[in-house]
Amino acid sequence: MVRVVLLGPPGAGKGTQSHVLKAELGLDLLATGEILRRAADEQTALGRLAQSFMEQGKLVPDKVMIGVIEDALGEIQSTGFLLDGFPRTLAQARALDEMLEQRGLALNAVIFLETEEEKLVERIRGRLLCSRCNASFHTQFCPPAVPDVCDECGHTPLMARSDDDVETLAKRIAVFHKQTEPIIPYYREKALLHTVDGMQTPPAVSKEILNCLKKR
Ligand code: AP5
Repeated sequence: MVRVVLLGPPGAGKGTQSHVLKAELGLDLLATGEILRRAADEQTALGRLAQSFMEQGKLVPDKVMIGVIEDALGEIQSTGFLLDGFPRTLAQARALDEMLEQRGLALNAVIFLETEEEKLVERIRGRLLCSRCNASFHTQFCPPAVPDVCDECGHTPLMARSDDDVETLAKRIAVFHKQTEPIIPYYREKALLHTVDGMQTPPAVSKEILNCLKKR
């Protein structure tokens, strides 16, 4: 089974691609942003804590996120999964290796979606999200077939995310450079890293990722 991490800055297309890969490969999807937004909507203790960090464009503390993934991995039945949004720091990457090792598993691949930073604002500003199934659309680049209706589950209306304003996005991008980029060489050294051109159309990006995974 495939065990893969999707890496990239905000707006790189991780959410878009993770939903395609989940459907294509029948993998369990563990998307930390989605887990935290659901918890925030439900106003659980995790949700209330996470919300304050997310609204500021900061990362939720490692200890909390490692616990979230430990619980999520414990709940899935399959040994194949896709991680979107985790790990995001070196401490999280090391903790993930340990968690998998304890289960006799290891990652097969880490896909880094490389993007042009100046295009990320455009992507994020036009993003529309389905609050029911988390499918991601864009007013211009990936519009839904019927305006304001989710292609995947039919839910309406589609919404913007509360952390998608330009100021918070700038902070999220800075956090990516400072805290998440150091994990790229970590995975390169382990010969797990594939860099995919995230500036192609979404179907072309999916094709390239699937080709990488086939080689594994
Ligand atoms: P999270 O939800 O993971 O947000 P993110 O990493 O900032 O990434 P985004 O969801 O903004 O972008 P994406 O790459 O998924 O792009 P998408 O496919 O939607 O995390 C949110 C917050 O939660 C964090 O800031 C942090 O506070 C917290 N958090 C989460 N995980 C954590 C962790 N492990 N540790 C600590 N804190 C954590 O695409 C964007 C737009 O572009 C869409 O409109 C889409 O339609 C469009 N698009 C996609 N692909 C293309 C393409 N190829 N061409 C044109 N348009 C495209």
